[in-house]
Amino acid sequence: MTASILQYYDSFDEWARLETPAGIVELDRTLRIIDRSVPAACDMLDLGGGPGRYTLAMAERGHRCQLVDLSPHLVEEANARIAASPHASTTPRAVVGDATDLSAFADASFDCVLALGPFYHLTKSEDRTAAARDCFRVLRPGGIILAAFIPRLSGVADLIDRAARSPEQVNVSAFTDAATDGIFENPSAEGFQSGCYLTPLEAGDLFRASGFQVDKTISVRSIHYGREKAYLEVAHNDPDLAKVMQKQADKLSLNEAVVATCGHALIVASKPDP
Ligand SMILES: C[S@@+](CC[C@H](N)C(=O)[O-])C[C@H]1O[C@@H](n2cnc3c(N)ncnc32)[C@H](O)[C@@H]1O
Repeated sequence: MTASILQYYDSFDEWARLETPAGIVELDRTLRIIDRSVPAACDMLDLGGGPGRYTLAMAERGHRCQLVDLSPHLVEEANARIAASPHASTTPRAVVGDATDLSAFADASFDCVLALGPFYHLTKSEDRTAAARDCFRVLRPGGIILAAFIPRLSGVADLIDRAARSPEQVNVSAFTDAATDGIFENPSAEGFQSGCYLTPLEAGDLFRASGFQVDKTISVRSIHYGREKAYLEVAHNDPDLAKVMQKQADKLSLNEAVVATCGHALIVASKPDP
């Protein structure tokens, strides 16, 4: 499975993903959620940080952010971007690593873990548990994790679009398994590979079982989901209306139906401080 993830990220332009209309909205809301959730000048772990978009944004905000990613190709790209940024001297070099084994980091090393990627790639329950436990271990008491997951209803519904666009990537058993137990196995070598679509309850339980207190489950794209291009057009034509839409989208991002059906969601959880 690792090989197919690496193959996918070797050819997919992950940096450019956040420059599409959907990506612009995802990045904007994710950054605002992070800003609201973490204290100033944190030690952060950007787990599954890819080419470093969030690491650099965190460095700009005065956090010290360590990027770890499974993909050597993306780590190399991240290091080139870090080196070329004004934050090269305060940001550690990105390293290759697996979310299921953070033994390179001591207990209680970080105030915040951003896990904006690994959990929806981990299709084995024991791997998700190992990753959640290690995130808990490397956090200081009172530390925060923001972990992205793809809610089951949303992930499965998206497979309908994907089957139309790329028929080789979705067959009867892959669709049935995804709808039944949330594990999608792409039968082809093309496109985004296996994925894990947890229900919001399962996602919360995963982190609670490792000792976290789940503070919030937030839809990232909220009611803008699938309509980001239209929303950005409104923002261009009528900024006041767009501001109201954004405010309502922020409010509705906590609505359970929105969380379940509108693309990526974030678990915001904390390590109790006894
Ligand atoms: C969709 S990208 C997200 C990148 C970045 N966090 C963002 O939000 O723009 C998912 C990332 O998770 C990484 N990843 C997948 N499985 C992982 C694992 N087990 N450990 C560490 N990183 C992993 C991938 O290599 C990829 O960079």
